This record gives sequence, C-alpha cells and structure tokens, in this order.
Amino acid sequence: MRVFVTGATGFIGTAIVRELKAAGHEVLGLARSDAAATTLERSGVQAHRGELSDLGSLVAGARACEGVIHTAFIHDFSQYVAAAETDRRAVEALAGALEGLGKPFVSTSGTAMLTPGRLGTEADAPSPGSAAGPRAATETIVMESARRGVRASVVRLPPSVHGAGDHAFVPALIDIARRTGVSAFVGEGANRWPAVHRLDAARLFRLALESAKPGTRLHGVADEGIALRTLAEAIGAGLGVPVRSIGGDEARAHFDWLAGFITIDNPTSSAITRDTLGWRPREPDLLTDMRDNGYFTKTA
Ligand SMILES: NC(=O)c1ccc[n+]([C@@H]2O[C@H](COP(=O)([O-])OP(=O)(O)OC[C@H]3O[C@@H](n4cnc5c(N)ncnc54)[C@H](OP(=O)(O)O)[C@@H]3O)[C@@H](O)[C@H]2O)c1
Repeated sequence: MRVFVTGATGFIGTAIVRELKAAGHEVLGLARSDAAATTLERSGVQAHRGELSDLGSLVAGARACEGVIHTAFIHDFSQYVAAAETDRRAVEALAGALEGLGKPFVSTSGTAMLTPGRLGTEADAPSPGSAAGPRAATETIVMESARRGVRASVVRLPPSVHGAGDHAFVPALIDIARRTGVSAFVGEGANRWPAVHRLDAARLFRLALESAKPGTRLHGVADEGIALRTLAEAIGAGLGVPVRSIGGDEARAHFDWLAGFITIDNPTSSAITRDTLGWRPREPDLLTDMRDNGYFTKTA
C-alpha cells in the first residue's frame, strides 16, 4: 500500500517508515524543509513538501495515497495548547480527505489523556482534565471520522517511548538530574508511567494500518506502569547521583516544563490491543533499555 506518513523524519516516524518498507509498503513522507526532504530521499522515501498548518498540503498527501499514518506534532511544551490545536486542525483535514473512501487512517494519541489513578484500557474515552487534555479533541475527531467512511484508528502512546535516539521525557529527566545533582521524585513516587520501545510502537502502527477496524483505540504499551520512584532510582544509579523525594511545591522549580507530567499516575493496559491485533512487544523494557543502551553516556 502507498502510505502518507506525517512526522516521517521524527523519532517514532523514522521507525514506522522502516517498518512499513520492510513489510513491502511504499511511503510518501511529509517534509517541511529542504533538509527533511533530503533526509527522506536519502533513505529511499519520496518526500511530499508541506506543513502541519498548511492543510492543503496534508489533503494532497492523503489523496495521493491508499492510507495515512499521522505522527507529526509540534513539541513545544511552552505552547502546548496551540500545538494541540494545530494538531486538531491537521487531523480534521486528513480525516476529511479520506471521508467515504474506506482507507486506513492511523493517528497518534497519548495514554496521558486517560483518567489518572486507575488502570486505563482501550475502552476508556479521553479525560479532558488530564495532563494531555488539550489533545483529547483530536482523538474524538479521529473516532468520529470512522462513522463517515474512514477506517480510522488511534494509537495511544505512553509518556516514554524509548530506544536509540530518544529525545523525550526520560532523557529530559536524566538531564535535570545531571544538572541539579539529584534524581528526584515527588512525594512517595508511587505514581506510575507506562512505556514502550519505539520499534514495538512502530510495529503496532503498521498492524493498525493493515487491519484495525474503524473506530479502534489501541494502546502501544509494553510496561503497564513503572513507579516514578523506581525510574528516579534507575537514573540515580545510572548517573551516580543521590535519589530524593521532593514536595509538590518544589516540583515546578525542579522539573520545569515536565512538572505537569511528573506526578501523573497513568497505569495503562494493552490487553485489548494484544488480543485484537496479535501485537506482542519484543524489545527491551524501559529500565533495561536505559541501563544497557547509552542513556547515561550522553553529555548534557
Ligand atoms: N517520543 C515519545 O516519548 C512520545 C510519547 C508519547 C507520545 N508521542 C507522540 O508520538 C508522535 C511522534 O513523536 P516523536 O517522538 O516521533 O516526535 P519527534 O521526534 O519530535 O518528531 C516530530 C515530527 O513532526 C514533524 N513536525 C514538527 N512540526 C511540524 C510542522 N509544523 N509541520 C510538519 N511536520 C512537523 C517533525 O519534522 P522535522 O523533522 O522537520 O522537525 C518530525 O518529523 C507525536 O504525536 C508525539 O506527541 C511521543
């Protein structure tokens, strides 16, 4: 199948592109710059010039293909609400381009938008008051497009998608611990984050593209929930710095833009996803990956 991939140059998108090509699919990758187009073409992927805010470019890309995987996102957490709104409009345009065609549309969502404090499942709708609440509207648009002839599904990703090239929350926590000389957790540190390896996530996106039914919510989750205290201890051991509990009032100064995520309790099941698509994570879990695969060797 010819697949339009947004975010094709990103951490997860790159893995999805490789996964698709290995399975015999052809990829048209969204590129917002000459550099991105060159990167794609060097890896044998046709580039489609465009931008998340240029809705016409997204519609043209979607119409040129038999399926769409959407992973692009503006990761400026100081402008998170605006980034979520750009994403919502992009998803509306992509879904609109596919209406009535029965083609697959796999979009990205997050487990952090589930109700905190209890095991989240694929049957749960997003909770607007959650840490990732501003992105909840996007997921709703995808689900609604399934009723208008789009074979639409969402893959919810956990706060840590890890693997070679990770530049997200866990490397940010490591940088904070290195800079401050302490690996901190808030209160008891009993709150949990789920996690998945990017190669397992990429395989799930491919499986969803190939066979998810319209209106399916999927969880790309391998570790159901790692206590933040355990994560802080792994970081402390990896860097050789002390591990310490801090109060909620200190968390804003210590964790800066990450403060809103560091206390979420987001245990998440992927049992329905495993049953529905036969997906099985194969790669190392987060703590093993951190220990064995260079998370502590980078300079800050
Ligand atoms: N990584 C994680 O731990 C994690 C966890 C939960 C959810 N997610 C979600 O998974 C998805 C993929 O994340 P990722 O880690 O692969 O992100 P990433 O490495 O930051 O890549 C973002 C991608 O989006 C593209 N992009 C950014 N702004 C754009 C714009 N204005 N127009 C067009 N393209 C634009 C980037 O293009 P350039 O190459 O040109 O910059 C890049 O291809 C996102 O929805 C993210 O929020 C990720």
